[in-house]
Amino acid sequence: MKVCVIGAGYVGLTTSAVIADLGHEVICVDKDEQKICQLQKGFVPIYEPGLTELLQKNKDHLSFSTNVSEGIALSSVIIIAVGTPSLPDGSTDMTFINSVIEDLSSSITSYKTIVIKSTVPPGTNEKILETLAKNINRECFNVVSNPEFLKEGSAVYDMFHPDKTVIGTNTADTKSFKIIKQLYNGLDAPFIETSLTGAEMIKYASNAFLAMKISFINELARICEAFDVDITDVAKGIGTDPRIGNKFLQAGLGYGGSCFPKDVSSLHHSARTKKIKTPILEAVQEINNTQVDEYINKLNTLLPDLPSKKIGVLGIAFKPNTNDIRYSRATTVIEQLGLQGCKIAAYDPIAVLPDFNQPNISQVSTIENALEGADCIVIATDWDEFITLDWQQVKEQMKGNVVVDGRNCLNKEQLEKNGFRYVGVGRG
Ligand code: UDX
Ligand code: UDX
Repeated sequence: MKVCVIGAGYVGLTTSAVIADLGHEVICVDKDEQKICQLQKGFVPIYEPGLTELLQKNKDHLSFSTNVSEGIALSSVIIIAVGTPSLPDGSTDMTFINSVIEDLSSSITSYKTIVIKSTVPPGTNEKILETLAKNINRECFNVVSNPEFLKEGSAVYDMFHPDKTVIGTNTADTKSFKIIKQLYNGLDAPFIETSLTGAEMIKYASNAFLAMKISFINELARICEAFDVDITDVAKGIGTDPRIGNKFLQAGLGYGGSCFPKDVSSLHHSARTKKIKTPILEAVQEINNTQVDEYINKLNTLLPDLPSKKIGVLGIAFKPNTNDIRYSRATTVIEQLGLQGCKIAAYDPIAVLPDFNQPNISQVSTIENALEGADCIVIATDWDEFITLDWQQVKEQMKGNVVVDGRNCLNKEQLEKNGFRYVGVGRG
């Protein structure tokens, strides 16, 4: 099949590479000329393990362009994966989606299956169908809601190994299911068929539930702290129950990234528009928004003259194996410690620190530079290379002995044996 993917971000690029690898002909279009120019030269502007190789492997039937209309005209399936960021009131910015819908309205001349992969508020796909039907013969298109469940840092793997393929269609649509099955032919996963709005809701419910799990374990860590219990034992203890599962029970600085924060606040906003009270979603956000304070308060207690200290922060990305810093808790920690006047040396294997316009905050190019003379270090992203540090060597490089484990990813006993003051959350 000929497929046009609109949006060359984390989701659009991964989708283009995988769909091409499944044997389809793909045109990936994006309005960002610089990004498209880089991609045409084989440079991938984002870091996703395996993505560059997969794009390279399929380059003879995968092209990049800024010409949306041409991409649409040449393709029978149009996959929309443009950004749907958060607005200050928690609602979703539909600017990019609306701009693509406008492009579609003036470019459809033969039958198209329009697949909305971007995360959009419940009810959006129905509205898109209505809007397009005003300008295009209803026989010439169908709209399908097909949300993605990719985790950054493992997006390629996740797309090749989905635990489901969610397909939302309009009741009158008898064509799309077969077309989507053909599109994903080769992926071994059950199809979940539902309405357009049902598919949108599955996506929000999935992210809101996962975010809730994280806020739950973080709240429990606060209780464990008061009872001198190690939260990692509790997570292990409850995680063996298949009804709970052992994933997303790692207490720490809370969730960041371009999805959980925006999707929880968007679902909360959607509910509010229907006058539905959502105490759970509010609590999930409240706990997450105060997790960093938990650590800053501990540090202020431990190091009363914190503003005069040098702090090495290991990690800038919102999670390991990505260079994405969107809503990163690590950058929140860096900014808040910087505002207290601390001298911050931040290191990350690939992510780049935004400019906080604070002279006391800088990014350094090696772990050693972050450790050198530090009164305290903060593990803000659980990259493997931080977890496997030689702690004897770290001790020699640091001036102080305080280690803040923002992701509860270190061995507390081992650090204390090496003479460190270990600060985690809920580690007993
Ligand atoms: C996006 C949404 O943010 C996410 O909610 C959804 O689940 C999947 O798509 P992501 O791929 O991370 O995730 O978006 P982003 O990295 O922001 O990339 C979006 C791309 O769309 C950008 O490259 C942007 O230039 C492009 N774009 C945006 C267009 O090509 N045309 C537009 O009109 C608007
Ligand atoms: C998430 C969802 O997992 C994915 O299904 C959806 O498609 C997009 O959003 P992503 O945001 O890429 O994926 O990363 P994820 O691995 O879910 O981590 C999100 C945040 O939660 C990170 O900041 C991570 O540090 C944090 N996290 C994760 C925890 O704090 N504790 C955990 O146990 C797991």
